[in-house]
Amino acid sequence: MPELFHSKLVIEQLGKHHDRAAFDCGIEELGHYIRVQASQDIKKKVTATFVLAGVLPAIIVGYYSLSSTIVKVKELPEQVAKKLPRYPTMPATLIGRLAVDRRYQGSGYGELLLMDALKRSLISTEQIGSVAVIVEAKNDKAKAFYEHFQFIPLVNYSYRLFLPMIEIQDFLA
Ligand SMILES: CC(C)(COP(=O)(O)OP(=O)(O)OC[C@H]1O[C@@H](n2cnc3c(N)ncnc32)[C@H](O)[C@@H]1OP(=O)(O)O)[C@@H](O)C(=O)NCCC(=O)NCCS
Repeated sequence: MPELFHSKLVIEQLGKHHDRAAFDCGIEELGHYIRVQASQDIKKKVTATFVLAGVLPAIIVGYYSLSSTIVKVKELPEQVAKKLPRYPTMPATLIGRLAVDRRYQGSGYGELLLMDALKRSLISTEQIGSVAVIVEAKNDKAKAFYEHFQFIPLVNYSYRLFLPMIEIQDFLA
């Protein structure tokens, strides 16, 4: 671990050179995804996956994946929905997965990854519309992490939360 902190860290698209074999965030599904599935999903344009990684060695500290999704307007709280046009569904951006390796949790890397994902999602709206960022929390701990950053559960969902893009824009301004 000390070796990593002497190397530069970058956030970049997952590539062949990244050492993903040892990644373990404590949730096997998220570990399996980066080790086995993410590259295939990138090739097939299912998700875009970005890693926070060392330059040399290219150890993966954490990652997130982004894709497009839709949100039903009736799943948004009334005070958010009333500011939107009266279409039944709205475009949104999904952070399907976000995880930090166990060895590096609690050091601000989760926040760094989340802020990068929000910034990238906001920038993308210059090309493709998206009214909110949606996250899938895997458990209560992950839900609390997102709530710490003002995400709110969608109506009738406990673990699917959202943050309006307008708020992200104000927050990042
Ligand atoms: C959830 C996770 C991404 C957080 O990453 P992390 O690097 O440990 O968190 P950070 O150190 O960046 O924490 C940033 C801030 O969030 C807060 N925070 C972190 N985890 C939290 C939690 N579970 N509940 C509430 N707040 C939390 C921290 O206290 C810190 O706040 P502060 O700056 O005000 O002190 C990480 O623990 C993880 O990968 N867990 C397993 C996988 C997972 O659950 N992923 C999310 C669902 S897909």
